[in-house]
Amino acid sequence: MKEMKDWAREFINGSVSRREFVERAATGGLSLASTLAALDAEAHLESGHDPATRHAHDHHARAGRARQSNAKTGMRTRRNPDQTNVNPYEEWLKEEGIPVYREHHIADLRVAEVKPWKRVGALGAHIDLVGGEGVNAGYLCEIPPGASSIPQRYLFEEVIYILSGEGETVVWNPGRAEQSVKWKAGAVIAPPLNVWRRHINRGATPARLLSMNNAPVVIDLFHNAEFVFNNDFVFRDRYNGEADFFGAGPENFHHKQTTAENSEIARGVHTWDSGFVPDARAIGLEAVKERGEANSRVELQLAENTMQCHISEFEVGTYKKAHRHGPGSHVVMLNGRGYTLMWKGTIKYSEAPAQARIDWKEGSLFVPPDGWFHQHFNTGADFARYIAPTWGGDGKWFMRGLGGGGRTHRLGKTSTRKGGSLIEHEDEDPLIREIFEAELKKAGVKSRMRSGKGEKS
Ligand SMILES: [Fe+2]
Repeated sequence: MKEMKDWAREFINGSVSRREFVERAATGGLSLASTLAALDAEAHLESGHDPATRHAHDHHARAGRARQSNAKTGMRTRRNPDQTNVNPYEEWLKEEGIPVYREHHIADLRVAEVKPWKRVGALGAHIDLVGGEGVNAGYLCEIPPGASSIPQRYLFEEVIYILSGEGETVVWNPGRAEQSVKWKAGAVIAPPLNVWRRHINRGATPARLLSMNNAPVVIDLFHNAEFVFNNDFVFRDRYNGEADFFGAGPENFHHKQTTAENSEIARGVHTWDSGFVPDARAIGLEAVKERGEANSRVELQLAENTMQCHISEFEVGTYKKAHRHGPGSHVVMLNGRGYTLMWKGTIKYSEAPAQARIDWKEGSLFVPPDGWFHQHFNTGADFARYIAPTWGGDGKWFMRGLGGGGRTHRLGKTSTRKGGSLIEHEDEDPLIREIFEAELKKAGVKSRMRSGKGEKS
């Protein structure tokens, strides 16, 4: 029979979890003073305050939630003067133990491989595409019928798109009432920053969620998982249990005024302001001419997030004007069929030193890298619609920092002729139109583009 002092030693060494130790201490008659002393010793060890025992500590298996914290985020080596270029987010990905998607795109999020994910108690895969560039990333989470995820909270924002299935998400602040939001495929839910969240599958088939988030920024800045994943701070300014926080009625639409800084064509922005969108594939859009005649969109101001998000749609036989901006925009195709060209360095696509072509359909995801021009082409028989969250865009909150959306997104709506980052049809590489016409011919779809100009009205 193991004695209490053995439990304490094993806890300090790292082979027994904090929860297990506290439970043993409570039932095993360890005095409060001794329990606190052991917790204190372990906490100092976790944060690397005791260099003499850190070595032994490193060689013990980690167990339990608290254990997955600082050990994984570079804190162990914070006094190592030889440490260089440890990336906390990448270290964290390694410890998560699920597949990580990299490259430029994922062909179909609905069938991409997911594997058992211990922390969340579901199946999962992380998404760290090239264009995320350490500002935005994502993950897939699949919950079997009748199951639910292990509650999580964290200090990064996320926008969740439901790829398949039906269920509900329960959110709560510590010690406060739970609130539940029911969803099905096509819905968007944004659990507020740092609330507890649990996803439940209420259907007969697997429920698959896509989270797009700014975890790399937060994890890289603080490199302390205990702080990011187990923080008691409550952001009441964002969410304080309001009954209408996840509202889905027409009152959530409003038209925000904008300035010339937002757009050359200052005319306001059609906006949906809620923590929830019942069906992103059906939500009403408004025509905007900035990126082409047959283009419409709605801004999503989700859960008081700094992360910006919008849904955009363009009609059959058309394509959008090319533009470029900072990294992180995760473009998820909600329907339609077509392709996107991405290139860097030059206005002329054919002269670019680097190019990528993404053929997409419903469920495809791609992320244009930092400063790469990108242009979307609809070659299908139906309209094409996507949702695109990005870190620090020009939504309700504007971030001054370059790198994410922010300032660079503003320039993405201004012509390159005026110092901006949008290529007018008159300036585009003739090859762009040639490829498009050839693709339409193959697909048997008629072009709605006028010669050398935009779409037919
Ligand atoms: Fe873009």
